[in-house]
Amino acid sequence: MNHAAIAGWGKCLPPAILTNQDLSTFLPTDDEWITARTGMKERRVSHVPGIELAITAAQRALDCAGMDGQDIDLIVYGSCSNDEAVPNCASAVQQRIGASRAASFDVNTACTSFMYGLSVATSMIKTGIARNALVIGVELISRYMDWENRNVAVLFGDGAAAVVLKSSEVESGVIAEKLQCYADSRQILRVRGMGTVYANLGVQYGLTRWDFDGQEIFRKAVHGMSEASLDVMRRAGVTMQDIEVIVPHQANLRIIESVAKRAGATMDKVFLNIHKYGNMSAATTPVALVEAVEEGRVKPGCLVLMPAFGGGLTMSAHLIRWGDRVTPLRASTAELPRCTKSALQMVNEIRALKQEGEAAVRRFETIRFSETLSTASPDAGSKSTAPA
Ligand SMILES: CC(C)(COP(=O)(O)OP(=O)(O)OC[C@H]1O[C@@H](n2cnc3c(N)ncnc32)[C@H](O)[C@@H]1OP(=O)(O)O)[C@@H](O)C(=O)NCCC(=O)NCCS
Repeated sequence: MNHAAIAGWGKCLPPAILTNQDLSTFLPTDDEWITARTGMKERRVSHVPGIELAITAAQRALDCAGMDGQDIDLIVYGSCSNDEAVPNCASAVQQRIGASRAASFDVNTACTSFMYGLSVATSMIKTGIARNALVIGVELISRYMDWENRNVAVLFGDGAAAVVLKSSEVESGVIAEKLQCYADSRQILRVRGMGTVYANLGVQYGLTRWDFDGQEIFRKAVHGMSEASLDVMRRAGVTMQDIEVIVPHQANLRIIESVAKRAGATMDKVFLNIHKYGNMSAATTPVALVEAVEEGRVKPGCLVLMPAFGGGLTMSAHLIRWGDRVTPLRASTAELPRCTKSALQMVNEIRALKQEGEAAVRRFETIRFSETLSTASPDAGSKSTAPA
């Protein structure tokens, strides 16, 4: 039977850092609240489109695997903040890395997009449809963040990472996974202002307001990630003692602590980078995986557990058998263009642009959703977080 070994890995974090102090210059918030409630200290703001972050991460992953674009026959681009809907974003990566033989498509399950993409690509390798795949998790949340809403603006950041999967005879890569969606809770995390339903009302794409029930998402995330983790361990016939490191989705330090406890792990088994990047949605788990390898937390042949959750509400857990290599085969020269602005400067520019479209925003704030999204129903709207 074919397996899909992780043969290369690479990340791309935009250089501009937005600190908790920066956020408190325009929001009623402070470092103490953000640190205590989330574990976050900083996040990144990109000066380039998401596709550029993805291409740089992809090139670094290819170099790590000692491969070139021509070796890749499948590209999966996991994101919910795509630069374009048509053409798909995966094709932009394909074009730039010269993967002329590849099939390319985008996956959107919000924060779990990379993990779902990893499952799809692994299955396609296992069934022989593809031999070498590139799976990317990338997000440019800064462009559609509701920067006036302290409930969400402090939580997210931009970034990207990618892995190269390679067909292998040896048991390696994803050895067990659990995917699920709590669709009845889909309304508790919704970004208004991205999609045709808004375009039909004359709302400019990207003029966003977030519906965000933080406490309910918190509860569902803890339940979903811990149950999924226990489920994959059962499926694979392993216990927590067999797992070297847990690399979870990093949305809130308190969520991670609760998941670890319920799954029977102590925090020394958990890899954390939430303090540096906040929640980068689809980019979070792959960036954390790359850093766990770079920092020596992933050992040759070890088991890595990756629980995640995202809008939908999607849930997942993956158990990964790492290969025998933890260092890149080739040094990479892939770099982003230089950034000449501070993160706060870029955020203030985005805020100013959005303020120009405020009338349209006020109009669509009154919209209530039925769960089909097609019929307006005054009673079916979700709890909407008011701008602070
Ligand atoms: C969002 C989250 C950090 C809020 O933490 P919490 O402990 O649940 O805080 P609450 O929502 O109870 O808010 C407590 C108070 O802090 C206030 N508050 C909210 N955001 C704040 C901020 N950035 N700064 C200061 N105060 C803030 C609230 O208004 C509230 O004030 P009140 O008590 O006067 O009403 C937490 O619920 C969470 O992480 N949820 C999961 C969200 C998530 O991960 N989403 C991504 C999905 S991938």
